Amino acid sequence: MEQTMMRTYGDYRVLEEYLQKIGTRRLFLVCGSSIQKLRVDGCFDALNKRIPVIRFSGFTPNPKYEDAVRAVEAFRRSNCDAIIAVGGGSAMDIAKCVKLWAALRAEDGFLNQTPYPNDFPLLAVPTTAGTGSEATRYAVIYYHGEKQSLSCEECIPSAVLLDPSLLESLPDYHRKASMLDALCHGIESFWSVHAAKKSREFSRRAICGILENLELYLQNHPKGNAGMLEAAYLAGKAIDLTQTTAGHAMCYKLTTLYRIAHGHAAALCVSKLWPYLAERSRGTELEDTLSELAAAMGCGTIPESIGKFERLLSSLHLETPIPRPEDFLILQNSVNPARLQNTPIVPGMEDILALYRQILSKGGAAECRQRHLRKF
Ligand SMILES: [Fe+2]
Repeated sequence: MEQTMMRTYGDYRVLEEYLQKIGTRRLFLVCGSSIQKLRVDGCFDALNKRIPVIRFSGFTPNPKYEDAVRAVEAFRRSNCDAIIAVGGGSAMDIAKCVKLWAALRAEDGFLNQTPYPNDFPLLAVPTTAGTGSEATRYAVIYYHGEKQSLSCEECIPSAVLLDPSLLESLPDYHRKASMLDALCHGIESFWSVHAAKKSREFSRRAICGILENLELYLQNHPKGNAGMLEAAYLAGKAIDLTQTTAGHAMCYKLTTLYRIAHGHAAALCVSKLWPYLAERSRGTELEDTLSELAAAMGCGTIPESIGKFERLLSSLHLETPIPRPEDFLILQNSVNPARLQNTPIVPGMEDILALYRQILSKGGAAECRQRHLRKF
């Protein structure tokens, strides 16, 4: 299915024209409450005068299965014929569940059933440059506290609207962390065992785009925001083809244990996974892959590219969490072995433990952890 791409800078006539073109009569809008701070909120109020917009915001970050069930029920009651997600990963996860489960019976448990195609268009408007969810077939939902990854081609939005003006109000920490998420998508996709010519091209363009736009993006400059939004989308296209690897598999527990952002956690993991892979790649095909990755990073050698990533990460001045001694066992046991299989050298459980010790080795004093928690 060819995805329709639209671009704007705060002018939503392009969206209205598209909705009219596809014959939308009622629009189901999935968005977090933070949409009220964005100019786009008024655009949907204006649109509501011509195409009724029914809003759903009843979900938390890292949404639960129950949130998705409520969203599906609300969608059915609304008689809407199109779904739009405006937000980061969570709004898109919920909207994807609505698309996937719209025609299934809740009583039979949505997770137990095989979704079948429906004609409801699914539109995505990302408000961060990070998850790339607007380009992927993946959705994440928590069922009784356990992460459930859904993967279905039906989840790939049929249309995407990229509006860099939405990035203007991003808080500093989330600005940095979402960019790191996109960069890790590009890097992990590049070395994934599922990588091929097409996915590497997406990765390469994503990595170059992120590095080229980094400075202006961190300054909240319109040009930097626009470039980063495009790059994050391309990184999403890359992982849609390859999935992520051990960096992401290891990062999820860090986010819940220390309440740090997903992209921050992923970057901490990739910063140690990368040298781990490099050390074991000598004389193998992986060495060529990592050399190509180094070139994509604008570096002549693998160590240079690892150093560049580490310097980028440390230049953001993000605090490394302080672990408790008992955390390492929790972290080691949290890693889903199936999620590691995309990694070109699959770390064993002892290696996972050693990597977590390296990842969390840079922490400062105990109050550093407390300072970090206060940010949320
Ligand atoms: Fe990610």
